[in-house]
Amino acid sequence: MRGHAEGIFIPVATLGDLDDRGRAVVDVGGTRVALVRVDGRLHALEDTCPHRGGPLSEGDLAGTLLHCPLHAWPFDVRTGQCPERPGARVRIYEVRVDGERILVSASGSFPPR
Ligand code: FES
Repeated sequence: MRGHAEGIFIPVATLGDLDDRGRAVVDVGGTRVALVRVDGRLHALEDTCPHRGGPLSEGDLAGTLLHCPLHAWPFDVRTGQCPERPGARVRIYEVRVDGERILVSASGSFPPR
């Protein structure tokens, strides 16, 4: 049976909270989550790199790949997967924008290994 949290969206920020690059870091149930705008679309993924904890929200983007600022592991903002390191992944969250409000799914999900 699926958890009750699935399908629940919680407001975490407003569009005005995004910085010049279209990013923000928010708390979702005690997890740091990065909001990242790519080609006009917002994505949400766990902010903490699984390698050594680098803040992905501060990384550089190349297409949909967000490179960790510490050792440059790339993570696809759409899937949470690191294409260069099989098994390295971060949780991703669904995003909805309702007027000015940004909402994310209360329970993120990991991509399959
Ligand atoms: S901490 Fe992210 S690549 Fe090392």
